[in-house]
Amino acid sequence: MKVLVATEKPFAAVAVDGIRKEIEDAGYTLELLEKYTDRSQLLAAVADADALIVRSDKIDAEVIAAAKNLKIVVRAGAGYDNIDLEAATARGIVVENTPGQNSNAVAELVFGMAVMAVRNMYNGTSGTELKSKRLGIHAFGQVGRNVARIARGFGMEVSALDPYCPDEVMTEAGVTPIHDIKDLYRLNDVVSLHIPATAETKGSVGYDLITLLPKKGLLINTARKEVIDEAGLKKALADRPDIKYVADIKPDNADELHAEFADRVFFTPKKMGAQTAEANINAGIAAARQTVAYLRDGIDKFRVNK
Ligand code: 3PG
Repeated sequence: MKVLVATEKPFAAVAVDGIRKEIEDAGYTLELLEKYTDRSQLLAAVADADALIVRSDKIDAEVIAAAKNLKIVVRAGAGYDNIDLEAATARGIVVENTPGQNSNAVAELVFGMAVMAVRNMYNGTSGTELKSKRLGIHAFGQVGRNVARIARGFGMEVSALDPYCPDEVMTEAGVTPIHDIKDLYRLNDVVSLHIPATAETKGSVGYDLITLLPKKGLLINTARKEVIDEAGLKKALADRPDIKYVADIKPDNADELHAEFADRVFFTPKKMGAQTAEANINAGIAAARQTVAYLRDGIDKFRVNK
């Protein structure tokens, strides 16, 4: 059986070695398609694949249709908005993710970007500190929980909003639960986004919420660009010259934002929250093990398209 690892943004080499070992020890063949530049390469490579391991690679209905033997797709990471679940389910293909495996890496980047933002993008002017500032975590999943843990070290006051998470989980982590989204934005100096991109959340953070931020507010997005209403963000930055926006992956209107709001915005050129050797090893090897567990034993514990 052939396991295809298709990563437009490759894993660290050490992670690939670990993935290879898991797959080959199980008696399967590994094929690696890294840094591909054209969809046709992916369509050709999936043609005879029994299993597919990907990152943010777009696995849409066309890819699924081209993958005649496909039995399982494992997204080595958390968000699976890049995979057409309906098309996979229609073919009886299992889709899994590897929750929690790269969340510390993303959480650390939140603080890398937070310090940069409050120090005015390191432009030499006097900035502010994170200590004693209020941090609001928008969605208290695996990344949000790691953000809360690190925030304690910075001496921040932490609150979170997550309708899918019981209050006790937050209070046990020393985090104040917030139930009204407006309060999350109104009451926090820094808001960090960790919502997945779903039909419900796409474009859901826009002018009305962003302008609720208190003076010198900072919005950090290491989730998905799609959750932001980009026109609303632009208007908010124009109307509120005190607020800043930093994001792991640039919005579609990045050039305009850079031109108009230099030193108040920062974007990574390629999503790099999970781009650490540790996260690659954790997520990549978990994906390989889950693939083997399914192909060999039919175990689908992390299935997301039940
Ligand atoms: C995730 O959903 O796991 C993160 O956004 C990381 O995505 P990546 O594997 O494309 O870096």
